[in-house]
Amino acid sequence: MIKNDLYLKALRGETVERPPVWMMRQAGRFLPEFRAMRDEYDFFTRCRTPELASEITMMPIRRYPLDAAILFSDILVVPQAMGMNFEMRDGIGPWLEKPIRTLEDVQNVIVPDVDETLGYVFDAIELTLHKLDNNIPLIGFAGSPWTILCYCIEGKGSKAWDVAKSFCFRNPEAAHLLLQKITDTTIAYLKRKVEKGVSAVQVFDSWGGALSPEDYQIFSWPYINQIVEALSPLTHVVVFGKGCWFALEEMTLSKVSALGVDWTITPELARTLTNHTMTLQGNFDPTRLHSSPETITKMVTEMINRFGKDRYIANLGHGILPNIPLENAEAFIRAVVDWKPN
Ligand code: CP3
Repeated sequence: MIKNDLYLKALRGETVERPPVWMMRQAGRFLPEFRAMRDEYDFFTRCRTPELASEITMMPIRRYPLDAAILFSDILVVPQAMGMNFEMRDGIGPWLEKPIRTLEDVQNVIVPDVDETLGYVFDAIELTLHKLDNNIPLIGFAGSPWTILCYCIEGKGSKAWDVAKSFCFRNPEAAHLLLQKITDTTIAYLKRKVEKGVSAVQVFDSWGGALSPEDYQIFSWPYINQIVEALSPLTHVVVFGKGCWFALEEMTLSKVSALGVDWTITPELARTLTNHTMTLQGNFDPTRLHSSPETITKMVTEMINRFGKDRYIANLGHGILPNIPLENAEAFIRAVVDWKPN
């Protein structure tokens, strides 16, 4: 049994004294101990070395009273396992030398045996669960098929993802073949994470908001929903679609346990679109963590009051930024932990 099960209670829709809190990208660059490790090992070496990955996962947990840990890894380990050699380049971010551009390229993409190619992630889970000692749940994650496709086609980050979008519009057959291969790999990958002992899985559709509501229903949601259908009998599935408020009603009809929302939607509208029945996660503007600790405390308290303490997981509306002062992140977490009904 997990000692602090606030996060799981929120996913089950149970009454809680206060909402649970964790931060997207909490195991990352805003921590000085993470930056120190950066000088020694490159990014994917840290992902591929279970001892390092589990240590990084624990960094924010040792510093703050968080209610969940998220395994340190990256969404791009999945396309790497499928044969795409993503690197993490300084000043660029994710980088793929030969992006996918044709149907033939897609046909050459493999659906790998996840134990052979991603065993290091499962080993990292085992080590991390040992270190967590049943104190808080561990969250596993994957990128959505659409978000992974974006990186595979563009070969790097983008603001509008127009290369990825036009690939899909010009070559729908190739796009759907690639999306299905990513989906099949992701389902096998997440199932194995659950077998290894994660308490929930989160699907990051970070670039779903680049699609129109109509195209979202063609190129993103059906594939996410395949993952939800496959995993929901085994564990809690949380879907975070950045900029995807337009899909909340549709997502609510699925078997997700919770939906993540970003800061461009009010708590009231998010509640309305999700029938007041769904557990919601979010949605503090990550840049707002540059405000003073006093302002952060006030704004977080108001955010909880507006979402309501039940069926709610306090979080940011996207990943924490690298330059956030430690005491500001602490103010965010403390404001949730110390929250009292008025
Ligand atoms: O919460 C956590 O810290 C867990 C680990 C985690 C990372 N990436 C570590 C990481 C998670 C959950 C991710 C997911 C991820 N990776 C997403 C989806 C979430 C989101 O933020 O939208 C995406 C789109 C990626 C792809 C990716 N990886 C990007 C765009 C970058 C940043 C590149 C840059 O230089 O700005 C990464 C690198 C990355 N992933 C870092 C971390 C801690 C930074 C690595 C470093 O600079 O040392």
